[in-house]
Amino acid sequence: MTEAWGPDDDDDQQRRGASGPVRVRVPAKVNLHLGVGPLRRDGYHELNTVYHAISIYDELTARRGDTLTLTMEGEGTGELALDDTNLAIRAARALAGYAGVPPHVRLHLRKQIPLAGGLAGGSADAAAALVACDALWGTGLSRDELAGIAADLGSDVPFLIYGGTALGTGRGEAVSPVLARANSWHWVVAIADGGLSTPAAYAELDRLREAGAAGPPLGSTDGLLAALRQRDPRVLAASLGNDLQDAALAMRPSLAGTLKAGEAAGALASIVSGSGPTCVFLAANADDADRIAAELATAGVCRQARTAHGPVPGARIG
Ligand code: C5P
Repeated sequence: MTEAWGPDDDDDQQRRGASGPVRVRVPAKVNLHLGVGPLRRDGYHELNTVYHAISIYDELTARRGDTLTLTMEGEGTGELALDDTNLAIRAARALAGYAGVPPHVRLHLRKQIPLAGGLAGGSADAAAALVACDALWGTGLSRDELAGIAADLGSDVPFLIYGGTALGTGRGEAVSPVLARANSWHWVVAIADGGLSTPAAYAELDRLREAGAAGPPLGSTDGLLAALRQRDPRVLAASLGNDLQDAALAMRPSLAGTLKAGEAAGALASIVSGSGPTCVFLAANADDADRIAAELATAGVCRQARTAHGPVPGARIG
């Protein structure tokens, strides 16, 4: 815990923080391996996952203000709550409480990561809010301290503080970076109409497992980590896996057609991202990714197809 500031230190603290707006860019994540273990007593599942940050970004701007406010622009943002249930607002409050400063900031979010898409858009915004408010308020926390606060906000939030490629254990909040060359892999991201609820996808997986209708659980992440080191997309393609995919397909059967269409267009592998409904496809190179995205966009199997590369850094100023 850092030392709390008293009221007399307010001016000093203002001087230490940024006076102008702070702009933070934060990426979406995909899970290259999402191994879901048993349901724990706290309602979470034990995870064994490899996170990977890709070049689709939300942008958050933090300005000085007298209260805590949030405004948003971007597709579908009208559906998002702007109150204390919003993860970006909760992140600002959590940091202010931890550092002992007033939670005064005007946040503005430009969203490009689809809502409830399995790309951790809400978690990304919370990570961005922590990094932006830390700079604006001059609280000067380390990434590890910010990740500690992030863990209470959501299982994916700590990863988005770091970005890159990382192993996630516990309920996903315990993150250790995996050394990987930046921008090594080329992806196509097929964004669906509407979202899927993450708790519902986990509950559906439990139901399928109880009924003996789920596929065998993924094993360790060792194969995937070895594939990442080989830097051959064909080897990586064979190692991708997601235990939540059966659940997402049960909830949204049309995703099977999206996955097939990507493979027919030449993707090396196709997988549901996190709890879906976004599907991601591994391409052999950037040109192939462009071609696959164009084919998916005209095949009528998704709302939008975009290319992305990874790994990219997590929430960063600038
Ligand atoms: O951590 P987060 O708030 O993002 O999780 C949202 C929901 O997803 C949880 O309430 C839980 O239902 C489910 N979940 C889970 N096991 C995890 C992570 C999330 O069951 N490891």
